[in-house]
Amino acid sequence: MTSLTTPEKKYFLHVYGCQMNVSDAERLGALLERLGFTKTEVEQDASLIGVVACSVRQAPIDRIYGQANKWEALKRDRGTLTLLSGCVLDHDKPNMGKIFDLMFPIKELGRLPGLLEEHFGNDLTANVPSLEEYFDVTPNYDSSFRAYVPISSGCNKFCTYCAVPYTRGGEISRAPEKILAEIRHLAEHGYKEITLLGQNVNSYGLDFEGVALNLPKRKVLKYKPNIVGELEVQKRPTDHPMGFAQLLREIDAIPDDFWIRFVSSHPYDMSDELIESVATHDKLTHYIHLPVQSGSNETLKRMNRLYTIEHYRDRLAAVRAAIPDAYMTTDIIVGFPGETEADFNATRQLMEDMEYDMAYIAQYSPRQGTVSARMRDDVPTEEKERRDKELNRILASTALKHNKALIDTADRMLVEEYRKGVNIGRLKNGRKSHFRGGDRTGQFTDVRVIDATPWHVVVEPL
Ligand code: SAM
Ligand code: SF4
Ligand code: F3S
Repeated sequence: MTSLTTPEKKYFLHVYGCQMNVSDAERLGALLERLGFTKTEVEQDASLIGVVACSVRQAPIDRIYGQANKWEALKRDRGTLTLLSGCVLDHDKPNMGKIFDLMFPIKELGRLPGLLEEHFGNDLTANVPSLEEYFDVTPNYDSSFRAYVPISSGCNKFCTYCAVPYTRGGEISRAPEKILAEIRHLAEHGYKEITLLGQNVNSYGLDFEGVALNLPKRKVLKYKPNIVGELEVQKRPTDHPMGFAQLLREIDAIPDDFWIRFVSSHPYDMSDELIESVATHDKLTHYIHLPVQSGSNETLKRMNRLYTIEHYRDRLAAVRAAIPDAYMTTDIIVGFPGETEADFNATRQLMEDMEYDMAYIAQYSPRQGTVSARMRDDVPTEEKERRDKELNRILASTALKHNKALIDTADRMLVEEYRKGVNIGRLKNGRKSHFRGGDRTGQFTDVRVIDATPWHVVVEPL
């Protein structure tokens, strides 16, 4: 058995997927450090290799399988322990079980000390309090000025293509007082940008008794409601029940100079109250990520997205009316089963009309265990690629148009990193920006836009 008291206990983490996994990995890392491990950037030096997996598409899962031999050799030659957490589908668990020594869902992070204790045979739990929920672990934030703060976990929506409700379970909102306490602490320590995370931040709090959303009348598009639909929301009592718009207003009221962003909004739950709050509260940045997935009602229905494209267009028009400088981004899937040329053309038209600033376009990838995995994946790969390219072409032209229109305007930028003499960061509404000069990482800088490309603006400090 390996002893944990030796000083060289080191851990190395592979993190795949979205910001939620990055945030979870910050909590996993913090707990490992409380257990006596130190972080290493050299995988071969680690006594513990952790993987935080993403199952949203097949590619990140294949990347894990592709490293199995390397880890096998490290285990054999150096006694390295391997651990898997994050989003893993049931389908992959048997094979993953052959690669990893330990596997646990991130929600059960509290079990980690016990699991490691079994392996290392030390009294690891001595300094680790029992965990009511994994969010209670204070993370080791990767940055000293930008932080992710999870406000909910899981998802009740069951889009037919999506792994998340299976890998993360139903949606549970974190208590507002815990979110506010974490953000107050960050703000007091000089953090300048807080990004709130949830699969559907707009439905935050709907699982608290006494919270409801006031939404425009909308038609609901469900895919065979007797097979899938929304998970029944389990209401539970909490001390200070509130929905997302109120949570945002309470965060905005925290003193100190910082910006607030949030991802992802779901169009079905996007209320006027939320749009109004973003429009009228200064710390709330005008960054609106509103995934549409498809411009065709036929496809949206088979995706079980619940909203119609008319509802989506109405929500986006409400955003534009209340927040004219909103930086609008979306997610789109091309080549969903049964997506015809006409369905695709509807998405293309939507892209033209919405003039997005950024869009994350994904080629459909069947996920085992989801409902769409039982549909025929009938759009050929070359056609998925063609559709992907076509949408990116539209995006590049609308993004460039918007960026050019900003030339000569003033804004505020947060510098995120410094590379080869260039300060790289974002303007307040999330637009990427660059300027040459001395390193200003982590600082707010007043700037003026002097040039534009589709993917960023060039600025100069004022
Ligand atoms: N909750 C967010 C929403 O409602 O849009 C999205 C979360 S999902 C983890 C991130 C993105 O991955 C989705 O918006 C979708 O575009 C993409 N995605 C999810 N499942 C996919 C699949 N099976 N194939 C291709 N892309 C997928
Ligand atoms: Fe996945 Fe849909 Fe939930 Fe987003 S809303 S996480 S796409 S099931
Ligand atoms: Fe995120 Fe991937 Fe899980 S996108 S929620 S890490 S399946």
